[in-house]
Amino acid sequence: MRLPRRAALGLLPLLLLLPPAPEAAKKPTPCHRCRGLVDKFNQGMVDTAKKNFGGGNTAWEEKTLSKYESSEIRLLEILEGLCDSSDFECNQMLEAQEEHLEAWWLQLKSEYPDLFEWFCVKTLKVCCSPGTYGPDCLACQGGSQRPCSGNGHCSGDGSRQGDGSCQCHVGYQGPLCTDCMDGYFSSLRNKTHSICTGKLWVSRT
Ligand SMILES: *[C@@H]1O[C@H](CO)[C@@H](O)[C@H](O)[C@H]1NC(C)=O
Repeated sequence: MRLPRRAALGLLPLLLLLPPAPEAAKKPTPCHRCRGLVDKFNQGMVDTAKKNFGGGNTAWEEKTLSKYESSEIRLLEILEGLCDSSDFECNQMLEAQEEHLEAWWLQLKSEYPDLFEWFCVKTLKVCCSPGTYGPDCLACQGGSQRPCSGNGHCSGDGSRQGDGSCQCHVGYQGPLCTDCMDGYFSSLRNKTHSICTGKLWVSRT
C-alpha cells in the first residue's frame, strides 16, 4: 500500500522517534521456524487426507486411498505447500531437511507419530518438549507437567533457550508462582495448586 507523499512525509519525524526494533524480536529462532514448518506440514496432511476421492467407499477407492495415504506423491503435495516462494529462510530450511522429512514420512511415522517431537526436538535439536527448556531440555521450575504451578510462564519453555525460571501471571509471585501478590488473597492452596484472587473482585453486599 502506498501512502500519499504528503502523509508519508508527515510520518517521518514519528518514525525517527521510534526506537530501533531489537534484532531478536524481528528474527524467528530456529525453533520457531521448525515449529512453523511442522505446523504447515500437519496442515498439509489434513488438506491431502481425502483428496481426489469422492467418498464413495468403493472397494477400488478404499484400496487406492490406503496406497495414497503413505505415498511419495502425497508427500510431494505436502512439501509443495510448505513454504511461500518468497520465504527464503523457509525454503532454505526445507531444502536442507527434505531428506529427514522424507525418511520420517516413509519409515518413521508410525514409530514417532508426533512430527514436532521427532523433527524439532529429537532430530534437529532446535526445540524442547513442552515444559522443558535450555540446551539440554531440563524440566521447568515446578516440573514439566505444570510449570510454575500453572500460574506463570517458564522462561524458554519448549525452546533450547531460557533458564527455566518463572515469570508469574498477575497476582502471583515467588519462584514457583504459588504466593499471592499484595492486594490478592489465597482462595485455594494445596500441594499442587495455588489460586490467588484480587480483593477488588470480591463483590460487596
Ligand atoms: C488441589 O486443588 C485442585 C483444584 O481444586 C484439585 O484439582 C486437586 O486435585 C487438589 N490436589 C490435592 C493434592 O488435593
